[in-house]
Amino acid sequence: MRHLIDPLDFTREETDALLDLASRIREDPAAYQEVARYKKLATLFYEPSTRTRLSFEAAMLNLGGHVLGFPSENVSSATKGESVADTIRVVSCYADIAAMRHPKEGAPLRASRYSRIPVINAGDGGHQHPTQTLTDLMTIRSRKGTLNGLTIGLCGDLKFGRTVHSLIKTMVRYEGVRFVLISPEELRVPDYIITDVLEGSDIPYAETRSLEESMPGLDILYMTRVQKERFFNEEDYIRLKNSYILTRDKMALAKPDMAVLHPLPRVNEIALDVDDDPRAAYFEQVQNGVYVRMALIMTLLGLPDPKAPKEGV
Ligand code: NCD
Repeated sequence: MRHLIDPLDFTREETDALLDLASRIREDPAAYQEVARYKKLATLFYEPSTRTRLSFEAAMLNLGGHVLGFPSENVSSATKGESVADTIRVVSCYADIAAMRHPKEGAPLRASRYSRIPVINAGDGGHQHPTQTLTDLMTIRSRKGTLNGLTIGLCGDLKFGRTVHSLIKTMVRYEGVRFVLISPEELRVPDYIITDVLEGSDIPYAETRSLEESMPGLDILYMTRVQKERFFNEEDYIRLKNSYILTRDKMALAKPDMAVLHPLPRVNEIALDVDDDPRAAYFEQVQNGVYVRMALIMTLLGLPDPKAPKEGV
């Protein structure tokens, strides 16, 4: 039985195959509408979410399956003191697969050790968010036609942003990738990302404070929200929250085929008038999130692909 806890739980080949499946689903969603008939997905969300929970639910419903679960810690037995280990043992009796979001780093990993069904990490604290990464990869691949040879700018809260950590970890497996890390000093990427992930794989990177200066060289600009809920004090958040705002003027400095991604929710990081720019890819990203989650559910449940390419074709 397989889980998806860390983005590296899938090899690069498996990740590419999953993205291929997601693309086949996008081309002909109707062909997949009965694939997970009678299967049940449990969504166990101990932290707020709009997109991730709803996109998991939409994905399972699109496959003809069912969903059950709870949308916040307050309405689950966690408030009575139940452990994640016990919760997943119980949920294993009700569902075929589970997606878990938790404020504690490592909670989905712990759950997977006690689970009799596949567990998907839907975000654990400031740590990882592998299904957002699949969404990001699908969007980058469909905009640029490849995941190789790209200069990727990541801007905003690179310290607490789990989507950033997962994306870097995954993208270093592709060829000719460079990173420009744009953040205030206080919100730089954690040291382990620099030493173990970037330097460990000999990946060229630059750290900078300036979004303007970085713009002309970027193929992808990945904007992020300052993660208010992970700050220890309100004053720091208020001081840092508007560090970067992407505006039309700044977009004028970028390549004509750059793509702007954002995992959403957006607060102030992208001015509303950027939404009409053809380079804005963040709502397309939301749509892709459903297809990759459909592909992921099928992969973890071992469900056959009705549109699989024939051998030797
Ligand atoms: C992200 C998250 O939860 O980490 N949102 C999401 O899942 N699309 C990003 C964020 O909350 O800023």
